[in-house]
Amino acid sequence: ASGAQPYVPPASASLDDVRAAAPNCRGCELYEGATQVVFGRGDAHARVVFVGEQPGDVEDQRGLPFVGPAGHLLRRAVDAAGIDPAHLYITNAVKHFRFQMRGKRRIHQTPDQTHIVACRPWLVAEFARLRPEIVVVLGATAAKALLGPSFRVTRSRGELLPWPASAPNPGDFPVEPARLVATIHPSAVLRADNQEIAFDGLVADLKVVARALA
Ligand code: URA
Ligand code: SF4
Repeated sequence: ASGAQPYVPPASASLDDVRAAAPNCRGCELYEGATQVVFGRGDAHARVVFVGEQPGDVEDQRGLPFVGPAGHLLRRAVDAAGIDPAHLYITNAVKHFRFQMRGKRRIHQTPDQTHIVACRPWLVAEFARLRPEIVVVLGATAAKALLGPSFRVTRSRGELLPWPASAPNPGDFPVEPARLVATIHPSAVLRADNQEIAFDGLVADLKVVARALA
């Protein structure tokens, strides 16, 4: 297994065709332990695409992104920021759940760079069809997949930025003239000492997106 590319349909394929091909992916070992692939979902004409890390336990079981606790929090933040949820598409940098067993519990494990790189062709294929105006980068894993290792979410969050020249494989992501807003991952809000402050920070960053869409 050396990446998803051989499993991704050709450029002529629709987003639905691409989604239909994803369950066959053997591009890295993560498919072995996971229940199913979790592809992006939402409006095929979305102006905004949110990119998270990888499915969690609930997403792995349901086959849909951001339907667990982090997803509920994200939905609340999107509402509070005044972004119309009907105009969104939500996906992840890595499309299978990576976890470790601890007793009978499946504990989330952050994907490695190898998983991010292996899964990237699916993300590229989504972007090629969606061509969003604004990309919302949720946390460090999405930033690594989209913008490369030198991008710091904590330094750049909440700013409407042009697609950086330092992004890996320039021209790979068909996003011109997309702009991006980076922010913390909703799971980081759930883990924060002060969840209220962390949530308000996430909402403030998403308001930048809402203003850019207005
Ligand atoms: N966290 C993510 O990054 N993505 C999901 O789909 C769920 C939780
Ligand atoms: Fe393929 Fe991505 Fe799943 Fe790895 S994580 S098997 S590259 S879909």
